Amino acid sequence: MEALRAVQILNPSGEITMPRPDHPRVLCVANQKGGVGKTTTTVNLAVALALHGNRVLVVDLDPQGNASTGLNVPHHAGVPDVYDCLIDNVPLSEVAQAVEGIPNLFCVPATIDLAGAEIELVSVVARESRLARAISAHPEKFDYVFIDCPPSLGLLTVNALCAAQEVLIPIQCEYYALEGLNQLINNINLVRQHLNPTLDVSTILLTMYDRRTRLADAVEQDVRNHFGEKVLHAVIPRNVRVSEAPSYGQSVMTYDPGSRGATSYFEAALEIAMRGVSDNGGTA
Ligand SMILES: Nc1ncnc2c1ncn2[C@@H]1O[C@H](COP(=O)(O)OP(=O)(O)O)[C@@H](O)[C@H]1O
Ligand SMILES: [Mg+2]
Repeated sequence: MEALRAVQILNPSGEITMPRPDHPRVLCVANQKGGVGKTTTTVNLAVALALHGNRVLVVDLDPQGNASTGLNVPHHAGVPDVYDCLIDNVPLSEVAQAVEGIPNLFCVPATIDLAGAEIELVSVVARESRLARAISAHPEKFDYVFIDCPPSLGLLTVNALCAAQEVLIPIQCEYYALEGLNQLINNINLVRQHLNPTLDVSTILLTMYDRRTRLADAVEQDVRNHFGEKVLHAVIPRNVRVSEAPSYGQSVMTYDPGSRGATSYFEAALEIAMRGVSDNGGTA
């Protein structure tokens, strides 16, 4: 069973495809809490979609550069990065790097330079829409752009919310999960009112689910009651293989494709892809 799943996920023959969206989808992966699975979700969904016939770009918008690390993309000081795009108008195409081993997957890395951007952006023209402009100026169309946000609601996250059509919120199945979410939703509403009228919270993903606890179950019910159909059926379990993968510069999809973590992210990616196709009654 495990071997079968692994073949389905790695898809070496390229036979298994997830439907490509009718139009390019830009998703902002946001939650101002740290450690809820934003980066893990960004990396694994991006790899899953790219392994199944979609052209995907990851924009690492967190100065910690975890998404760049997870995709094994060089991001030491001096590497051209998303900071150059935001502050110095360098085109995205000049800083995007191909992800080794995953055809059709590209990453705009974040270096330590980005740590200064939150402050430097304050005084630049059109400070909220720098990333939106950079993405729309990109000559090549991606099926998916995933923007991995930092754990804050500052100007970097606002840039991501202005550049995206959709917000994907990973929620960790823990007691304080819903606390602070109102603040995120308020910010999203403000951006929608003033800057990006079609922005939609399209997708909620439950992460680090521990089925041994009743608490996880209660949180899941709460989130489903509150967000309804936006919540993906697929739930990501807490799985040690998921947390080991980044130290090998890999996603769990390639590190251990037979694991429960990989299977769940595969299922989540498939659901997102199905929702992006209009004749499936999708949200996109
Ligand atoms: N499903 C999971 N099972 C086990 N560990 C996980 C899982 N998802 C994320 N982690 C680990 O939890 C930590 C925080 O995840 P991360 O994706 O970096 O969160 P964020 O980007 O929101 O700060 C990381 O060490 C990551 O490896
Ligand atoms: Mg992160």
